[in-house]
Amino acid sequence: MRLLIDNAALVAGIAPAGVPRLCGAQMERFGVMERGWVLVESGRIAGVGEPGREPRADRVLDAGGGAVLPAFCDSHTHIVYAGSREGEFMDKIRGLSYEQIAARGGGILNSVDLLRRTSEEELYRQAMERVGEMTAFGTGCAEIKSGYGLSTRDEVKMLRVIARIAESSPMKVRATFLGAHAVAREYRGRQEEYVELVCREMIPAVAAEGLADFVDVFCDRGFFTVEQTRRIVETGARYGMRAKIHANELDFSGGVQLGVACGALSVDHLERSGEAEIAALAGSQTVPTLLPGASFFLGMPYAPAREMIDAGLGVALASDYNPGSSPSGNMRMVMSLGCIAMRMTAREALAAATLNGACAMDLSDEYGSITPGKVANLVITKPVPSLDYIPYAYSSPLVRRVLLRGVEQPGL
Ligand code: NIG
Ligand code: FE
Repeated sequence: MRLLIDNAALVAGIAPAGVPRLCGAQMERFGVMERGWVLVESGRIAGVGEPGREPRADRVLDAGGGAVLPAFCDSHTHIVYAGSREGEFMDKIRGLSYEQIAARGGGILNSVDLLRRTSEEELYRQAMERVGEMTAFGTGCAEIKSGYGLSTRDEVKMLRVIARIAESSPMKVRATFLGAHAVAREYRGRQEEYVELVCREMIPAVAAEGLADFVDVFCDRGFFTVEQTRRIVETGARYGMRAKIHANELDFSGGVQLGVACGALSVDHLERSGEAEIAALAGSQTVPTLLPGASFFLGMPYAPAREMIDAGLGVALASDYNPGSSPSGNMRMVMSLGCIAMRMTAREALAAATLNGACAMDLSDEYGSITPGKVANLVITKPVPSLDYIPYAYSSPLVRRVLLRGVEQPGL
């Protein structure tokens, strides 16, 4: 079946094959074609071109003067959770910080209590509602973390839910084991023993069922130290899991330097980053992944995206969709925050939210750009005057159609 998406006013996010990530000034050169078409065949992109040279197809989909973009690649989410935490949202408004809430035993541990009481079936049901919302907003690939179980049984339970999402959703899913998201309540004051549990019991159990692609640690003040993170990441590596590290959200934690030193696929958050962190990332394969939704929601500083890109780094943008610091999976909003709060251009933000995000999940050979041969995960917008309009009109529902593997997805 050949499907021709015709009559696009803009085709953006075009890249040649074999480009894993765009770095520094290359991000501003992410391919944009004014007026064009995209051909889809058997769920993959088969061609891109200008008007007048349209190939023959079995079916034509009129883009109606909208933009055709690669679907978003959201490389950092925590969408398997039970319930919500709007009570803490009000506590924050009344003046408590994220760290103060965590220190009182709330925050992540609240979600842990709730998740342990919730069945696998119910967790799957709640997570699939979020998946439906994300795909309707234009996300085609997502990484999903565990980390609200904090016991071997409950971490495995979460990862089984993620595996079920991967099987049943058209979204491409990568699974990350985040047993070291916080110290479980029953291990309070016995952090070292908890780290031992993660390394000796949880990682082998997760690996035995093949449930995780990656291993993550919340390496930050009040959570896990650099030394503990190193141990967990090295253990994960022995079981075939590459590292993705939560780093430098709350402090200059040393997590960025550790991530680079141990070949992490990405280091994420980076709100507290300066010259040393940027220098450590320069020339490395580790993708700095920025989560401006968390800065927006928690009223924290934003990561220095402008300085990073100007220094040649290839940053990714992700939603961090989770109940405590970013209860939203809207990647268009994330792109707008990248522009408004972090001084990224529209093209840089698009590259960060698509190809570079795919790279942060080790998926950029198949996803993240409009490239013949890649999977046809595409967004078609309403008519827009320019690419810049997309992050500019930050709350207009511009996404008109979403195709994953070449198949149109239901809207909201
Ligand atoms: O990425 N920072 C650590 N973990 C999540 C928040 C999780 C939560 O509060 O439930 C984050 O922001
Ligand atoms: Fe996170």
